[in-house]
Amino acid sequence: ILHAGLLDGYDFEGKEVVVIDAFRATSVIVEGLHNGAKSIIPVESVEEAMSIKAENPEVVLGGERDGILIEGFDLDNSPLNYLPEKIKSRDIVLTTTNGTRTLKGVVGASAVYLGAFLNASAVARRVSNANGLVLVCSGSENTVSLEDSVCAGAIIYSLESQVSIKWTDTAYMLKSLFSDNRDNLGEFLSEGEHYRELVAHGFEKDVQFCLQLNKRSVVPCYDGTTVKR
Ligand code: MLT
Repeated sequence: ILHAGLLDGYDFEGKEVVVIDAFRATSVIVEGLHNGAKSIIPVESVEEAMSIKAENPEVVLGGERDGILIEGFDLDNSPLNYLPEKIKSRDIVLTTTNGTRTLKGVVGASAVYLGAFLNASAVARRVSNANGLVLVCSGSENTVSLEDSVCAGAIIYSLESQVSIKWTDTAYMLKSLFSDNRDNLGEFLSEGEHYRELVAHGFEKDVQFCLQLNKRSVVPCYDGTTVKR
């Protein structure tokens, strides 16, 4: 059975989980680790991030509120800004509206990976038991989002070529959503609310970047406190 969906009080005990927030939190984390960050520490509030920085001035603060840079932070939530010269060998404390909160909500899982379009096939290769896998789409403000659903579909699509899977209906729907649109992902996703919001904020380059399929091989793993490769 392969599940995919929003959190909703799900029991993660002993399950292998992939958390997805393709626009942009999990793409930022993939890119940050690809570019040499030591770790990413997800936190829920700006205050928590600030207090970690007060005790450890060498950490980099990243994230967004309302899509933009938080006052006093070093980096916003644009994957294009997580460049080696800014983050290599550094710990990044990250707080975003949906992605980091979703991640912190996954408790008791046997393994938690972070997925994006950037690393969809790498994530699929890392999964050890596809039939027990839970894919968690962060969505936006507790609703389903088009891009996370299609990204889950991309991971399922990659899994399919490796193992024989007993689909749930949700997994089958998401895989179809991806495979029906894989040749024009940008055009299909441009109808999405979050895509349009990011473009309106001037982040079109970010969404184009996040849409690159299988560009990275890094698979971020969350141990309940910290994300590392
Ligand atoms: C989030 O975690 O809510 C998103 O990454 C927001 C964003 O696009 O920056």
